[in-house]
Amino acid sequence: MDKYVINGGKKLFGEVNISGAKNAAVAIIPAVVLCDVPCKLRNLPNIRDVSVILSILENMGAKVDRDPTDPSAVTIDPRGITSYKVSCDDLVAKMRASYYLLGALLGKFGKADVPPPGGCKFCKRPIDLHIRAFEALGAEYKDIDDHIVLESDGLKGTEINFDPVSVGATINAILAAVKAEGKTIITSAAKEPHIVDLANFLNYMGANIKKAGTDEIKITGVKELRGPSDDSGEEISYTIIPDQIEAGTYMAAVAAAGGEITINNVTAQHLRSIMKVITETGAKVTVISDPNREYETVTVARRGDLRGCKNQVITSPHPGFPTDMQPPITALLAAANSTSTVVEAVWANRFSYVPELRKLGAEIDENKSSLTIHPVAGGLKGGTRKKPVSVRALDLRAGAAMVIAGLAAEGITEVEDAKYVKRGYEDIVGKLTALGADIRMVTYKEITDDSDE
Ligand code: EPZ
Repeated sequence: MDKYVINGGKKLFGEVNISGAKNAAVAIIPAVVLCDVPCKLRNLPNIRDVSVILSILENMGAKVDRDPTDPSAVTIDPRGITSYKVSCDDLVAKMRASYYLLGALLGKFGKADVPPPGGCKFCKRPIDLHIRAFEALGAEYKDIDDHIVLESDGLKGTEINFDPVSVGATINAILAAVKAEGKTIITSAAKEPHIVDLANFLNYMGANIKKAGTDEIKITGVKELRGPSDDSGEEISYTIIPDQIEAGTYMAAVAAAGGEITINNVTAQHLRSIMKVITETGAKVTVISDPNREYETVTVARRGDLRGCKNQVITSPHPGFPTDMQPPITALLAAANSTSTVVEAVWANRFSYVPELRKLGAEIDENKSSLTIHPVAGGLKGGTRKKPVSVRALDLRAGAAMVIAGLAAEGITEVEDAKYVKRGYEDIVGKLTALGADIRMVTYKEITDDSDE
């Protein structure tokens, strides 16, 4: 069991480098299952979800070589994967994105047998749209001994429409369709940056996917994914995009705590909706582009009062305000000097962390799908060394929200269950400490059942 101990109320200054995108990495690693040659992935974030999915692939027969000179690079040789069955139930249950193995194995073998996924359980997370997409491509779905089993005599391209828009189902449909016979058209497709990253990776390997990043994705099935077909002899390697939500979390952190930080390695285009909200709170956001560098830099400074947002913050699929930023932004707004409203329009209920924020003094009214966040006289308050305020990280983004609230609150905040934050943020303690935050991780042993991680 790990917890963060934060002595809040300290301004942040300095630079932070953003890691590779978790949600791109956890889709692209399973996509390697479809490839016919080894490939190297670069800029993988060093987070628990990535180690888990790599372990699952190893367990399935892939060879995974970590680059000794670059901890963010891994070469995966998928040729040892000879079965469509995944048997490491415990590992699969540790994360949500393990369900991308369904699309990948179905695409490779025409069959898949995968245990049920786990992951953050902030509300009910159905997979009916994934199954419907697989069925449309010609697979038959069965639930056998609690495993998700898909069988087919070969997949055939088709039209797939999603309602509601689903990131995971769009990714699974792409994975299944990429080697299917003929054309697949996905309408009402999700447009998140990691969908485009997945399509770019697969196209680099030899797939034919057009218009990823729009509502309508067109896929023409190919027989092989062998990487660039030229004879240049260049290593087959692909670099994962920067993590939009990690960048947004550091923006929210400095807006909450005050100070000025430089956030390196971002794609500003992916951050538009987040930057708009951060700017509304009174922080100054500046994008710096350098034609000689692939990624951009953003500086965020908050020197004056922290204001609430006049406009409602409403989550929606990309390019709207991301639901994964909703808990961190609520924590930021809870420290502001005027009222804000946050509406959650992607998930049916993603407010279970609100009672934890109230422990730090936050005044938040919860309605069905919205929060009214009131200013708190004197700001959020942690406790003393002897009597800290203890809050729980109930899931990954809820945990990020607790860290942000702890940075804003004067006094000591302890965030229990740091394991959830480690699932998706690389070295958050090291990165925040380098910015001047007073945060440390305490590890203590407890006889506990961690199987629900
Ligand atoms: C992805 O989850 C992300 N996870 C989530 O981030 C993120 O919150 C979510 O997209 C929305 O942006 C990964 O990429 C690994 P969805 P996903 O399918 O794919 C409904 C994080 O913190 N729906 O786009 O599971 C569903 O109930 C994680 O990094 C169905 O009805 O989300 C929801 O209302 C948490 N049936 C909406 O669609 C289905 O079969 C969007 O969910 C699937 C989804």
